[in-house]
Amino acid sequence: MYHFTPDPAQPKPELYRELAGAAAALVAGEPDPVANMANLAALIWQFVPRLNWAGFYRVSGSELVLGPFQGGPACIRIPFGQGVCGTAAASACTQLVADVRAFPGHIACDAASASELVVPVMRGGAVIAVIDLDSPEPARFDAEDARGIEALAAAIADAI
Ligand code: SME
Repeated sequence: MYHFTPDPAQPKPELYRELAGAAAALVAGEPDPVANMANLAALIWQFVPRLNWAGFYRVSGSELVLGPFQGGPACIRIPFGQGVCGTAAASACTQLVADVRAFPGHIACDAASASELVVPVMRGGAVIAVIDLDSPEPARFDAEDARGIEALAAAIADAI
């Protein structure tokens, strides 16, 4: 059993530095991508406060398929270019959405979600997955959260 004790009150850059370090330690030496994504989703859930969903969608052909996550059951397949996740995958750009209802084509998996952060995971110049965080708070995520999850994505790209 791994034990991490994040302090959610600490400044975001420190919190995300700790998260990336814990994530690297957690996946070190483990080649199974599903096991690693499952542990990483649990780690994000532990470290990042005020979320109602956190997890992975994996690229499969021209769509995203649900991967390991924490939170309620979610939609399973998302075509590239659709919703916040499909937009992040198609553009290879982080999507920081303060109000999901104002995002054209947002896919409402959980009616409680008010804001969302989706970060592509890149390997060999291609998007292989996205990390999706949802919050019940409007405008929950800012540029520091985006930078933190982008650093996490870079740290774990070879392990998923
Ligand atoms: N809201 C996402 C769908 C995934 S759930 O939030 C878990 C989207 O619009 O792509």
